Amino acid sequence: MKKETKKLRSQEWFGGSDKMGFVHRSWLRNQGYPDDHFRGKPVIGICNTWSELTPCNGHLRDFAEIVKKGVLEAGGFPLEFPVMSLGETIMRPTTMLFRNLASMDVEESIRANPIDGVVLLTGCDKTTPSTIMGACSVDLPTIVVPGGPMLSGRFKGEFIGSGSFSWTIKERQKKNTFSEEDMLEAEICGSRSAGHCNTMGTASTMATMVEALGLTLPGMSSIPAVDSRKKVLTQLSGRRIVEMVNEDLTLSKILTRKAFENSIIVNAAVGGSTNLLIHLLAIAGRIGVELNLEDFDKLGSKIPLLVNLMPSGKYLMEDFFYAGGLPVVLKELENLLHHDVLTVNGKSLKENNANAKCYNDDVIATLDKPFQHNAGIAVLKGNLCENGAVIKPSAATPKLMKHKGRAVVFESMEDYHARIDDPNLDIDETYVIVLKGVGPKGYPGMPEVGNVDLPEKLIQKGVKDIVRISDGRMSGTAYGTVVLHISPESAIGGTLALVKDGDMIELDVANRKLHLDISNDELKKRKALWVQPEPHTDRGYVRLFLDHIQQADKGCDFDILVGKSGSVVKGDLH
Ligand code: FES
Repeated sequence: MKKETKKLRSQEWFGGSDKMGFVHRSWLRNQGYPDDHFRGKPVIGICNTWSELTPCNGHLRDFAEIVKKGVLEAGGFPLEFPVMSLGETIMRPTTMLFRNLASMDVEESIRANPIDGVVLLTGCDKTTPSTIMGACSVDLPTIVVPGGPMLSGRFKGEFIGSGSFSWTIKERQKKNTFSEEDMLEAEICGSRSAGHCNTMGTASTMATMVEALGLTLPGMSSIPAVDSRKKVLTQLSGRRIVEMVNEDLTLSKILTRKAFENSIIVNAAVGGSTNLLIHLLAIAGRIGVELNLEDFDKLGSKIPLLVNLMPSGKYLMEDFFYAGGLPVVLKELENLLHHDVLTVNGKSLKENNANAKCYNDDVIATLDKPFQHNAGIAVLKGNLCENGAVIKPSAATPKLMKHKGRAVVFESMEDYHARIDDPNLDIDETYVIVLKGVGPKGYPGMPEVGNVDLPEKLIQKGVKDIVRISDGRMSGTAYGTVVLHISPESAIGGTLALVKDGDMIELDVANRKLHLDISNDELKKRKALWVQPEPHTDRGYVRLFLDHIQQADKGCDFDILVGKSGSVVKGDLH
């Protein structure tokens, strides 16, 4: 008996023999497509975040052509479309301000067009969550092609990890060990090929996340951008998405609660970025899976660190790939992960990684001999962060994980820049830097500034780390004893807004505590005197952002974007 197949969504546009069928087909045919392309071939939308202003995604235009080959081989009809691309190192004030805007672009572009299945071409940090969030709200069959990391950088014999190296520049300059010539040379040494950051920064974390969620072909995320094997899997992804359409394998069949739990565990084992929390919470909210901040601590904090990659370790993504890549980590974690979750190739995570082999145990460790115990992100609570805050223990200084010190308060980034290197600033290595006004509404956009540089006078003394707390984020390539994502943020009157110079602050990561040591009466008094800052603007996208942005513990999605509207569109052109 012939199996009933679901009618293709694209046939609602192309299948008609009336005037509108003519209109939908005819104009597209100006690109030279034969008429059989409109008679029941699955239409695959290739959602491209290529942009010359997003250097990490600069190769994705070529990747789209490779995907097209695969789609055509499998009998599909590929149509590439551009979406807003977010270049982390270029956009001001921060790409996070635009993640939700980009997700709206993706969502509406997919829904409004005759698309049956989607390939998401991603790379730089926010291009992964923004495209997945948008795709989740439509929920068609979807596969992700992560663009891959750059090759390892080397400068005068030293490995350059993207981002991680730049955090050392102030210190090198203060010590006069980094000339202007060095700067020019190091710039190009650090970016020697196409691809995204080559550390386990946010881009690699996001790529790892999508593979752990089951949204890529196996092994895809660790392969460098310029490796020919990346091209092979890109082409195979094009073939596979056509099959996924025929199987009606939609995103919601893959993105189950179990898949999210797996992703949290894997993130801990690879020492992934704290940004994962925000993006994973937002993705879960779109697809309709219950997930909260506490899940990250419950599921991830006891997981050991299995990879020796910057910023938590010493190697780079290229080394990770040669050592066997993410499949080795997934196999090693086998007994801790849900085995039965479905992935885009129709097989389970366990089946996909059954034959993975480690080729360098200095890069990928075993559970018996990890690089660090209890490495996952810790979620803190206390009167300073009633709805939570986070810290990444694998990137922190162990002796500072329990610390009590005096606050030195900066009301904004401008205030910080104006005073941090003032020789008269009252600060030593026992103090706690408190940075306000860098949360979702405060900046606005929650920039990656939580790991602010130490004052010059402490650097000169040889101090490497002090406790820093803020309502901002931190780059995935950064390190230090840095408490982030404090919620509620200072701009909406969270306790952080009330901290004054000299207050005692207690950080106790083992007991998940972040506490401002002042009486409740004093807190109440300060709260009564607190004045809400003026909104940044009263118009445009930033106004929309300020009106609808949720706090970090909710993933910073807009309240009006949570959930999905599906793929049905009422109404047509007339
Ligand atoms: Fe694009 Fe790091 S700046 S991935």
